[in-house]
Amino acid sequence: MPASADAIVAIDDLRKCFGNVEVLRGINLKVGKGEAVAIVGSSGSGKSTCLRCINRLEEPTTGTIRVGGQEVTGAKVDLNLLRQRIGMVFQGINLYPHMTAVGNVTLALRKVAGLGKAQAEQKARHHLDLVGLAHKADSYPAQLSGGQQQRVGIARAMALEPQVMLFDEPTSALDPELVSEVLNVMVRTKEMGMTMIVVTHEMHFARDVADRVVFIDHGAVLAEGTPEEILVSPQHQRIRDFVTRSRA
Ligand SMILES: Nc1ncnc2c1ncn2[C@@H]1O[C@H](COP(=O)(O)OP(=O)(O)OP(=O)(O)O)[C@@H](O)[C@H]1O
Ligand SMILES: [Mg+2]
Repeated sequence: MPASADAIVAIDDLRKCFGNVEVLRGINLKVGKGEAVAIVGSSGSGKSTCLRCINRLEEPTTGTIRVGGQEVTGAKVDLNLLRQRIGMVFQGINLYPHMTAVGNVTLALRKVAGLGKAQAEQKARHHLDLVGLAHKADSYPAQLSGGQQQRVGIARAMALEPQVMLFDEPTSALDPELVSEVLNVMVRTKEMGMTMIVVTHEMHFARDVADRVVFIDHGAVLAEGTPEEILVSPQHQRIRDFVTRSRA
């Protein structure tokens, strides 16, 4: 685990309540530069809420979160700037349907990064090429498969050159045959040196690609370690049960 000073993401005693239910009960997590951390755990354990707190889609109740050394939890934080530094890809696909693939990526670069039209489009095409979609740049979302749409979403986030990419089950809404094309793009994203936090039910991705696996249980980190430690020979019965269920 990286020391605080070296961490790209440093979460310290993060708590989140919805009404009087505490769904995050003191999460601590540090993610180093270029590290890929997989977050796994049962449904309802707080994985999405934790990711959403990092880019302030949810307001943490207490605790601090730093990204690139800067606190994201302060009241004066510029949320637009913050979300430029923190790319996020969700389960649901959220492209603008009336814009082409390149249009969707270009829009983000113009609106969020403030690039001019020509420069934004050139960069958008480059990032679509990186996710293997140069030939689909001028297609509309309805003309793309779910996996291709999800890759456009990754290109859109990556084009903004974030400090970290957050993925929340980006393949769980996809037909099985489309899952691997998205996972392959994520592997390449890691190979490019991107720091990544990936909530996933894809155990083979967590096992084969992640540098570290964090198991969240009832809003707290129950265990973290190498994929081997957490997923292959887990010490906790709860994790053993989870791994067995995931294999079923
Ligand atoms: N906006 C909200 N209002 C009230 N409760 C919420 C809200 N969002 C999430 N919760 C609750 O917080 C808990 C954690 O939810 P979260 O979505 O973070 O779980 P998760 O680990 O991502 O689950 P899954 O694997 O099913 O996606 C759940 O009990 C959920 O019902
Ligand atoms: Mg979730």
